[in-house]
Amino acid sequence: MGVCGAWRASAMPGGGERWGVEVALDLRIRRPFPSRRMAQEEGGSLSEVRARVGASHGITDLAQKLHFYDRWASDYDQDVAALQYRAPSLAVDCLTQALPGPPQAALILDVACGTGLVAAELQARGFLRLHGVDGSSGMLEQARARGLYQRLSLCTLGQEPLPSPEGTYDAVLMVGALSDGQVPCSAIPELLRVTKPSGLVCLTTRTNPSNLQYKEALEATLDKLEQAREWERLVAWPVDRWELATTELEVVPGTSDDDGFISGIVYLYRKRQVAQVEGGRPSAQPLTGL
Ligand SMILES: C[S@@+](CC[C@H](N)C(=O)[O-])C[C@H]1O[C@@H](n2cnc3c(N)ncnc32)[C@H](O)[C@@H]1O
Repeated sequence: MGVCGAWRASAMPGGGERWGVEVALDLRIRRPFPSRRMAQEEGGSLSEVRARVGASHGITDLAQKLHFYDRWASDYDQDVAALQYRAPSLAVDCLTQALPGPPQAALILDVACGTGLVAAELQARGFLRLHGVDGSSGMLEQARARGLYQRLSLCTLGQEPLPSPEGTYDAVLMVGALSDGQVPCSAIPELLRVTKPSGLVCLTTRTNPSNLQYKEALEATLDKLEQAREWERLVAWPVDRWELATTELEVVPGTSDDDGFISGIVYLYRKRQVAQVEGGRPSAQPLTGL
């Protein structure tokens, strides 16, 4: 892992550039993509899978969406494997390269944990102290069966607080749940609340056309928290081959999405330490010695 304190340009959604303290990460893709033929064999008919997952993207009401996940839970892993869904491994690669200390020591919260694909990636890298929350009891049942979480809780983000005291976790992830009808942007400060000072928060969202409006609102929320000095951005990593598109409408002609994949982005933030100012209110301080 190469963590450095150099000032350098970091990739920004929308193609712009930004300067700031950044963690240098080796984010090259290490695994070859499974062939499409293999995906079809693993997940049944790819067109059936596309129809099922495409239907989920179309649901914008949270209660309906969670109900959909309850029913989908037992087929979820197989279906997302067919779509070559890589968000869990990409996010975990990004997070774990920046997380200091031995993996066994870090307490990690997986928000919107689903069936536990993120936990599987974390466990493969030696992270064993894992808690998960999700709004779907069906998905939590699958996660429980995986046996990788020490604690699992039913919690609907945007409606309920996370079931943990302030400053509990060394790292908090939310993968695949930031889009319309799922976790609202208003829930982001709650992730920050349960993160330890100087702990990490890793988030993902899709950047295909139908999610761009949500992504814009998300980035406004992320930027606002940065301006308020609650956290600092370490990484914004745009990824072309995020997962296979469910319809041709999701594919942008004339881009690398042409091969049938949609794109996405991984964000990594570090919560600022709070320093007590003598005779005044506590204020967030930038970290030094990265
Ligand atoms: C696409 S799945 C992602 C699951 C897992 N993180 C992964 O990457 O495989 C989205 C998950 O978010 C959960 N979810 C969506 N909206 C939620 C909300 N507002 N509160 C809690 N969980 C939510 C769903 O139940 C589902 O398990």
